[in-house]
Amino acid sequence: MTATEPRWAAIRDRGGRMRRLATLLVACLAPAACMDAAGTDIIAAESAASAELDVALRSRLAELGFTGRIEQTLEERLGRRLDRRLADVGRLLWFDPIQGLNDDNACAGCHSPTHGFGDTQPIAIGVDNNGIVGPDRAGPRNQRRSPMVINTAFYPTMMWNSRFHARSGDPFDNSAGFVFPEPEGMTLSYLPHLLTAQAFIPPTERVEAAGFHFVGDNEDIRNEVLRRLNASASYRQRFARAFPEIRAGGAITFDHFARAIAEFEFTQTYADAPIDRYARGHRSALSHEEKLGALLFFGRARCVQCHAVTGRSNEMFSDFEQHIAGIPQIAPSFSNLEFDGPAGNEDFGLEQATRNAADRYAFRTSPLRNVALQPAFMHNGAFVHLEDAIRYHLDAARGSGEYTSVDLPPDLQGGTGPVAPVLERLDPLLQKGVELTPEEFDALVAFVRDGLLDPDARPERLRRLVPRKLPSGMDALVFQFERARSH
Ligand code: HEC
Ligand code: HEC
Repeated sequence: MTATEPRWAAIRDRGGRMRRLATLLVACLAPAACMDAAGTDIIAAESAASAELDVALRSRLAELGFTGRIEQTLEERLGRRLDRRLADVGRLLWFDPIQGLNDDNACAGCHSPTHGFGDTQPIAIGVDNNGIVGPDRAGPRNQRRSPMVINTAFYPTMMWNSRFHARSGDPFDNSAGFVFPEPEGMTLSYLPHLLTAQAFIPPTERVEAAGFHFVGDNEDIRNEVLRRLNASASYRQRFARAFPEIRAGGAITFDHFARAIAEFEFTQTYADAPIDRYARGHRSALSHEEKLGALLFFGRARCVQCHAVTGRSNEMFSDFEQHIAGIPQIAPSFSNLEFDGPAGNEDFGLEQATRNAADRYAFRTSPLRNVALQPAFMHNGAFVHLEDAIRYHLDAARGSGEYTSVDLPPDLQGGTGPVAPVLERLDPLLQKGVELTPEEFDALVAFVRDGLLDPDARPERLRRLVPRKLPSGMDALVFQFERARSH
């Protein structure tokens, strides 16, 4: 405990006492004992502790400038209302392998409604898969875990190494350009939002959707996808309803494709979690335990220093900067990509984008909203339990000594890469571990798991977005909703 936090410490102590008092209260629910005069004391102490906790948390949130109102800013920042008709075309494309020249994958194969439009796997499986999206998905692995796409409307940088980003620091503002690696470079900067530009990329990725048979460059691949879309009467009809120029007989272009995908993504904004409602004044939106966890998150456990809620973070719980968090390196035994390092079992992260060795092993701070929906954590899914991911993060040096990959799918259990070079470069902020009591740890987990979860993003609700029939008539991917694990 540091000298700057006596008030929180007092509240934590009070929290412990309160729990004991609460137990007493329950114990005295037997009619006679309840008349005990101590009962009124207990209730008074409980409400005093709870009021004090609220004062501390509310003042911390105010200090950080956290409003809990980010979701409501979407249309204002787009400068227009969402176009539901266009979003629906995007939704159909999302699930339809017509966009994947290997005929077996679409966005949804990796960004699945079973997990907040994120991966069902610790490391993505792209082309040559078995058609299943869930724990039983099989096929050669790519290099990283697919992040959840919900809320990406607010991300100023994209991908685990931020290789796509808005130079303005604002995804809604293209005035300074959007940066992509070559061959696209800055050429997508004319598009209205970073997500619209991003949608140009996945169909061109050989390991994700395009496959290895089609001959040609990214532009050729896009033209072939467009040929398929323009040959589909059903898609032409749907696009025509959204765009007058197509109605007038014009061709579907990749701009149209990207606008439809991005519009669907805009509708997938789920940023109304208990912490937001709490910040807007609903004191009972968080439980007592979650409030204690929140105070740790925003304070002594120093999570918020990277999982930021201020400025360009857009209240997404990420600074959108790169840090070396010292995560164990996992390499699949069956992959269609070459991994980094002399033994081919490493991921150099940001260095892949900058070619600067100082950036080796750095990855973007994960935005934490709705993280409980994920079946795996970190860039390579090294952890499959949220508790383990958080515990490791509290003391990476100790954690790496104890790390085991036994919980991962069999093809990910063999290839753990070197640890020492990663830990040597550990972010200074993480070098000193954080000590938490078991109760504090549980509170921190409760806050991250439940306090940041928007209930509307749950699989039961997102499953309604799976189309009954694909406009292309192609075979649909099979989603394992029943087997989606929740934390
Ligand atoms: C083979 C699996 C796969 C497919 C198919 C796929 N993605 Fe992804 N997606 C990923 C992975 C993996 C990443 C992260 C890659 C990295 O950081 O190197 C990612 C990243 C993203 C991101 C950035 C998210 C963030 O947090 O920065 C967006 C947006 C996205 N994908 C959208 C799409 C769209 C739209 C489609 C379909 C047109 C699509 N993806 C198809 C695997 C896939
Ligand atoms: C030095 C910056 C930093 C600090 C401090 C920090 N994190 Fe992280 N966190 C990261 C980075 C970077 C990643 C992604 C690492 C990777 O995948 O290689 C991450 C990933 C995570 C993940 C996994 C999310 C996902 O999408 O897989 C969780 C959960 C998490 N952090 C929680 C916390 C909590 C809780 C705290 C406070 C105890 C904390 N972090 C402190 C930088 C930080």
